[in-house]
Amino acid sequence: MKGIILAGGNGSRLYPITKAISKQLLPIYDKPMIYYPLSVLMLSKIKEILIISNPEYIDFYKNLLNDGSKLGIQIKYKIQEKPKGLADAFIVGEEFIGRDNICLILGDNIFYGQGFVPRLNKAASLKEGAVIFGYYVGNPKEFGVVEFDESGNVLSLEEKPENPKSNYAIPGLYYYDNCVINKAKSLKPSARGEIEITDLNRDYLLENKLKVEVLGRGFAWLDTGTYDGLANASDFVKTIQKRTGLYIACLEEIAYNNKWISRAELIKLGKEYEKTEYGQYILRIAGENK
Ligand code: TTP
Repeated sequence: MKGIILAGGNGSRLYPITKAISKQLLPIYDKPMIYYPLSVLMLSKIKEILIISNPEYIDFYKNLLNDGSKLGIQIKYKIQEKPKGLADAFIVGEEFIGRDNICLILGDNIFYGQGFVPRLNKAASLKEGAVIFGYYVGNPKEFGVVEFDESGNVLSLEEKPENPKSNYAIPGLYYYDNCVINKAKSLKPSARGEIEITDLNRDYLLENKLKVEVLGRGFAWLDTGTYDGLANASDFVKTIQKRTGLYIACLEEIAYNNKWISRAELIKLGKEYEKTEYGQYILRIAGENK
């Protein structure tokens, strides 16, 4: 399985902050936003990753993450000329995906909670069809919404419905088999002119090949697309990190735990950021600091 991070879009709900910078480069407390979705792919043990962004921002991502080799992964980059919709990721990413299955994560979604990694591994082991997640929210009207029965069979999918059939929003993390490329290509743009991931998921549902995994209430899913979302996410990360002494989305730590980099490489990476708490944390993980 390969992974795509969708890091383009307009970011218009964050204007004027995102007038001149890509949303997914904004800080969430102590690291750029894109670290968080990238950490999820790495926790999924996905090593081949494509970052998609707008023409004007792609080089910023290259400067930040390069080819990924320092983290023991391979990162490629591709431009999305216009924000044509989430499902466009599979058209822009067709060549990268090749014959593999694919995980898509939105560049502005943050996930955190115990038991996440086994859930990720289960979803990533998919052979056929698609896996999406469901997360209970108080304001389902703002999201894609999934309705399902007691056995977890999906009954309906709706995009930002006026009268939602359930309180379960669909977070920006999706796993698909290779058929997703052709399915995306046959989608028609919606009224807002985008090719919708909800329509794509509905195609899988019609074929009885869509599964939903519910993320329970002990689990945090944060969307950082608005001022409050951005500020709340920073507060959340700061609180957890200060209280537990363990970091959310420390890419170097994940790479080391996955045995993708050696201890010597980890120490070298920690020393690059030695003046920061982030760097000190890496050195602590490596056993250099107490
Ligand atoms: P959205 O939050 O739906 O859109 P946006 O980021 O453009 O923000 P706004 O609504 O404020 O204008 O997008 C979710 C994520 O997907 C976000 O990380 C941007 C990314 N995205 C793309 O990369 N390409 C696209 O075509 C779209 C629609 C979104």
